[in-house]
Amino acid sequence: MRVRTAVLREMGAERPYADSKPLSVEEVELDPPGPGELLVKVRAAGLCHSDLSVIDGSRPRVMPMALGHEAAGEVVEVGPRPSTFNPGDHVVLAFVPACGDCEPCRAGRAALCEPGAAANHAGTLLSGERRLRLLGDGDGDGNGDGELNHHLGVSAFSDHIVVSEHSAVRVDPELPFELAALFGCAVLTGVGAAVNAARVEPGQSVVVFGLGGVGLSALLGAVLQEAGTLIAVDVVAEKLELARELGATHAVPAGPEAVAEIREITEGGADHAIETVGSAKVLHDAYAATRRGGATTTVGLPDPSQMLEIPAVSLVAEERTLRGSYLGSSVPARDLPKFIELHREGRLPVERLLTHRLSLDEINEGFDRLASGEAVRQAVIFD
Ligand SMILES: NC(=O)c1ccc[n+]([C@@H]2O[C@H](COP(=O)([O-])OP(=O)(O)OC[C@H]3O[C@@H](n4cnc5c(N)ncnc54)[C@H](O)[C@@H]3O)[C@@H](O)[C@H]2O)c1
Ligand SMILES: [Zn+2]
Ligand SMILES: [Zn+2]
Repeated sequence: MRVRTAVLREMGAERPYADSKPLSVEEVELDPPGPGELLVKVRAAGLCHSDLSVIDGSRPRVMPMALGHEAAGEVVEVGPRPSTFNPGDHVVLAFVPACGDCEPCRAGRAALCEPGAAANHAGTLLSGERRLRLLGDGDGDGNGDGELNHHLGVSAFSDHIVVSEHSAVRVDPELPFELAALFGCAVLTGVGAAVNAARVEPGQSVVVFGLGGVGLSALLGAVLQEAGTLIAVDVVAEKLELARELGATHAVPAGPEAVAEIREITEGGADHAIETVGSAKVLHDAYAATRRGGATTTVGLPDPSQMLEIPAVSLVAEERTLRGSYLGSSVPARDLPKFIELHREGRLPVERLLTHRLSLDEINEGFDRLASGEAVRQAVIFD
């Protein structure tokens, strides 16, 4: 079938993207779902910094690519049976397919699924297939035709997509699609970082660096865990204000004084620092803002060339820990329904993260807003 999809052919375009238009919205061919795959009508897709990092080249991926990885929609067709899904199911897509069978999956570490990571790296679905094809330049010589790579098994910026069943989690149909989409990346990643990775305990002090969709979700996760002192750090004043409304007890503008200020508020450093900016420099500060025995959880995805330098002995003599968290260290099929239920109970106000709704044709402008820090989460809404 013919679908409208946002295609990235080349990384590293200049901003503003409204002018350089790195994403071109075009008609492409979508093949039917194979065994273990679903045809999904996308209803909402969120704009995440990890998409922006592919556009600006700091997170290189195979080109050309159908971008986007944070989405929710409705199952239209199920590939050759058997399947646990049915047409009409509402699904949230997770950006790492979890095969359920490899060693990390069996150990409950779905974020590290090995075939999932290999497929994501190659730009294919879990099956190893690509289901999207460029239509070329129309002169029939095959020039410009060819397969399109999938972004993280999802390729959310498309009115319809084919995904592996292992990328999809059936969710409560009462949840509006525009919020459901956010659960797929920002919420799963951020809340999961606080709950599954940092495992914040009641009364502990927490500092969150970066207050985008992921960082504010980490903050909401820390509130859920009943953190005590909860400090929010960002360069954007409006985001500090929003963090306060969402439960931060202190807001600290990013800058050279931030670490000293955090250490003063917490009388010697925070129990937990959660870094969600994607910068080794900020990660360095996050580590420095923890107390002896403190834990740093890093979630941001810096350019692979960035290195981190910390005093090696501090890990030992001060019993500090530093851990990374991908996909919120979650098992999507277990954690998405859990987080969605918490939202239903009013304990995870995810709606506060959605600052803009846009059409697929406005996607380049959306990435300008994300890059400038003006937006928290924006969702492309499909009819
Ligand atoms: N680990 C994962 O599984 C995972 C999943 C999704 C996103 N990510 C990564 O997490 C990061 C955040 O994603 P997002 O979509 O929330 O991005 P975002 O752009 O919405 O948020 C980043 C925030 O950091 C702030 N910031 C910039 N410089 C700062 C500084 N020096 N100090 C403090 N704050 C600063 C920005 O103002 C912004 O509010 C990105 O690197 C993204 O690639 C990781
Ligand atoms: Zn993301
Ligand atoms: Zn697996």
